[in-house]
Amino acid sequence: MDPKVRDDFPFLQRDPAPIYFDNACMTLKPRQVIDAINDYYTNMPVCGGRSVHSVGMDVTMRVEESREAFRTFFGAKGREVIFTKNTTEAINVVAKGYPFERGERVILSGQEHNSNLVPWLQVARAKGIEVVAVPPTPEMTFDLEAFADELRKGAAMVALTHTSNLNGYTAPLAEVVGMAHERGARVLVDGAQSAPHSRLDLDRLDVDFFALSVHKMLGPTGLGALIASSGALDGIEPLIAGGGTIIRTTYDDFTFAGVPEKFEGGLQHFAGIIGAKPALDYLSRIGMDEVEAHERRLNARLTQGLVEVGGVTIVPPLDPMLRSGITSFLVDGMNPHDIAMMLDQVGHIMVRSGRHCVDSWFEAARDGPWLPGHDISGTCRASLYIYNTEEEVDIFLENMRGVTNFMGGGPIA
Ligand code: ALA
Repeated sequence: MDPKVRDDFPFLQRDPAPIYFDNACMTLKPRQVIDAINDYYTNMPVCGGRSVHSVGMDVTMRVEESREAFRTFFGAKGREVIFTKNTTEAINVVAKGYPFERGERVILSGQEHNSNLVPWLQVARAKGIEVVAVPPTPEMTFDLEAFADELRKGAAMVALTHTSNLNGYTAPLAEVVGMAHERGARVLVDGAQSAPHSRLDLDRLDVDFFALSVHKMLGPTGLGALIASSGALDGIEPLIAGGGTIIRTTYDDFTFAGVPEKFEGGLQHFAGIIGAKPALDYLSRIGMDEVEAHERRLNARLTQGLVEVGGVTIVPPLDPMLRSGITSFLVDGMNPHDIAMMLDQVGHIMVRSGRHCVDSWFEAARDGPWLPGHDISGTCRASLYIYNTEEEVDIFLENMRGVTNFMGGGPIA
């Protein structure tokens, strides 16, 4: 990775220099994105998709350019791109709008983010569908055999996280999609943690629904997307209806517009949509293969170093090559929030601590085979991105040695 990328991120220029390892939650923003947002608010702060004056038309054109940039970036030329608020909303659009019938089954993995669990459970309550979670193998990988067993019992939908925000593990998506489609099930993928970190070709993977968040890939907050095949969208009732979603209303009737308008109710997040394009352009210039390779290199160094610190247990799989840029870990006898606060206060290092919105796995882990003998009420999570460096990893490791030393009664640093 060219170290010059760091110069593009104003947040990294602070003094003292922050070490930002909370990228799975949110990435930092390069000035190219900030400039595009500023440009919208300064030079074209008007409605797109409605007004025919020249500035309004300019906004409309930029929104559609951005939509096209998503199609190109994700290899989704044959797919629809619907802008949403985030991954959570994109999943809710499908879960709440899909024409399920009572008794139909939805299969999830056993380490889903609440965003890909709670909406399905809500639909189970409201419409009587059955939601089944397939727990991971003892090595915390996807259990293809158990999944195949569940599929044989029937499924209308398979909804699973592509790369886990808990441990960074990436599920074998091509196999899952092939198996699901063979059985006539649709596939929804929570791509929040894969979209920012790997090269994707959604036309080839043929997932029916792919949900992502732009704030995790250098872009503005408050913007996500649902990328879907048009056939899969047939029969889905919009989550939000109103302005922009119809072609005609009378006092007692309405006719929905086509896709994507039907699913983009109300005034859109124009600044966010316009600011997303430079984020995708930035990542494309680096190349997603290089993004992925850089994270793996750093994660290998971080993993090796953490193992050597002692008293640290990594949430499996242990092989960093299977964990993208994410390492979740426990320190025996220490609360993860305390570790995160010490790292911040002593080393200006930002990691996330807690359950990472995967509460259901932590509940199951009390009796599960994944980390026997450990108190797994939460973990610390270091998640890396393009601007992180080997030097930062080494400073993190040095601080982790200080933290564990402190627990043993020594000084913290
Ligand atoms: N899901 C985000 C994370 O894992 C918020 O941090």
